[in-house]
Amino acid sequence: MGRKKITVVGAGNVGATTAHRLADKELGDIVLVDIIEGMPQGKALDLAESGPIEGYDSRLVGTNGYRETAGSDIVVITSGIARKPGMSRDDLLNTNAGIVGSVAEEVARHSPNAIIIVVSNPLDAMAQVALRRSGFPKHRVIGMAGVLDSARMRTFLAEALNVSVENVTAFVLGGHGDTMVPLVRYSTCAGIPVAELLPKDVLDQIVTRTRNGGAEIVSLLKTGSAYYAPSAATVEMVEAIIKDKKKILPCAAYLEGEYGVSGLYVGVPVKLGAKGIEEIIQINLTTEERAEVQKSAAAVQELVHVLKI
Ligand SMILES: NC(=O)c1ccc[n+]([C@@H]2O[C@H](COP(=O)([O-])OP(=O)(O)OC[C@H]3O[C@@H](n4cnc5c(N)ncnc54)[C@H](O)[C@@H]3O)[C@@H](O)[C@H]2O)c1
Repeated sequence: MGRKKITVVGAGNVGATTAHRLADKELGDIVLVDIIEGMPQGKALDLAESGPIEGYDSRLVGTNGYRETAGSDIVVITSGIARKPGMSRDDLLNTNAGIVGSVAEEVARHSPNAIIIVVSNPLDAMAQVALRRSGFPKHRVIGMAGVLDSARMRTFLAEALNVSVENVTAFVLGGHGDTMVPLVRYSTCAGIPVAELLPKDVLDQIVTRTRNGGAEIVSLLKTGSAYYAPSAATVEMVEAIIKDKKKILPCAAYLEGEYGVSGLYVGVPVKLGAKGIEEIIQINLTTEERAEVQKSAAAVQELVHVLKI
């Protein structure tokens, strides 16, 4: 059995860093696709030339087409334009829908059995575009957001608690936007609920900072948006699938009744394994938390409503 084949579409900040991390972990052979001539080829060659030093044998190929992507096991879609200061994720909607839709069609044509991980924003709406345009079943089209949002929350919690980030778990549900739902009640430090360890005002600040986590980086960088943590989050999902880990991670999944939401991508805990989303995990929510998830889903619905897909 040969190595798995992973295609990363969009060789910009998130795509190239994802390819870098995938190669470092030797998760498979990697094809980088972008529309800019020479750029994916150059980045793939540069990454391949790090192999002898870093000790990975992943083969890396860059291309402006899809022939080289044929038969991919996983395709990560990062193509599109990134947020600029003052721009909301929703401003990206129609430009990125056109890009993600055409990419999803190419993926379906060349890699009919692939699992698609969508990264392009606005995330939940783009996952929906990829689902429709690929024609894939819902368990093979997954959105990356919750792993990133909860990693941000874990960073802030660990900092406030002055403990290892590895001790801290956090759950962020809902859409990947200002209405996301960081769940303090399900966040723990070494198994202890964080609500028992930190005062409410500190937790409230952490929830707000998590919600604005993407915008905080955008305003610091001034050109472009975050990519180190987004690529790390994407690679955790790829690894869970490739190694059939059955890992429970918050991801954007197409819901059909779960959490009271139907026909939409919303962030929920899912079990990721070789088949993609193998289960949607339903956790008990308080009336207030449930209302927040519904509100977040309504924000996603508004975007999807205006999409021409
Ligand atoms: N889901 C998340 O949590 C999350 C986190 C970070 C970034 N993002 C999103 O990921 C996307 C990529 O961000 P980035 O920082 O890498 O942007 P970037 O501008 O650095 O890279 C995007 C790349 O896509 C390429 N591209 C455009 N149209 C294409 C097409 N039709 N086919 C192939 N490639 C195409 C561009 O040439 C560019 O190189 C953005 O939409 C951004 O908002 C999402």
